[in-house]
Amino acid sequence: MRLLILALAAFTLPAGADEMSGAEVYASTCHECHAGGKDNAPKFGDASRWKKLIREGLDDIVPEALHGVRKMPAKGGNPNLSDLEVARGVIYMANAGGGKFAEPTPAQVEKWRKKANAKRR
Ligand code: HEC
Repeated sequence: MRLLILALAAFTLPAGADEMSGAEVYASTCHECHAGGKDNAPKFGDASRWKKLIREGLDDIVPEALHGVRKMPAKGGNPNLSDLEVARGVIYMANAGGGKFAEPTPAQVEKWRKKANAKRR
């Protein structure tokens, strides 16, 4: 009975509530390269570097983070992250570099996934 209640509770939570926040995603995965700027990764908090990426916009940079770009592996090399979590990680870093992006909507995340899939393998 208790198990059933737990299972029901899991289903009734709003979508994404069990997923990590941007800060948690950053600490778990992105920090490894973006804290120190490994392989020329845009460094966390480096506003001059993030300014250009912020201007490109989330529609460009989230699909790159999902798909991977040069030495940046797809999803930061952590396939356990959901697309929403990767997007939150991007937003967390972009906002630390001067951006003002809000929590993404499910429709945005879906669009970014389509853009990532359309990229050359
Ligand atoms: C193994 C190292 C590594 C990890 C881990 C990593 N990145 Fe990166 N990331 C890079 C490198 C290197 C670049 C620069 C790529 C380039 O432009 O050549 C980059 C670039 C980016 C960019 C800019 C993409 C663009 O359009 O130029 C975003 C956004 C990004 N990373 C997000 C993330 C997020 C979110 C995570 C965590 C989920 C993450 N990265 C984890 C190495 C990493």
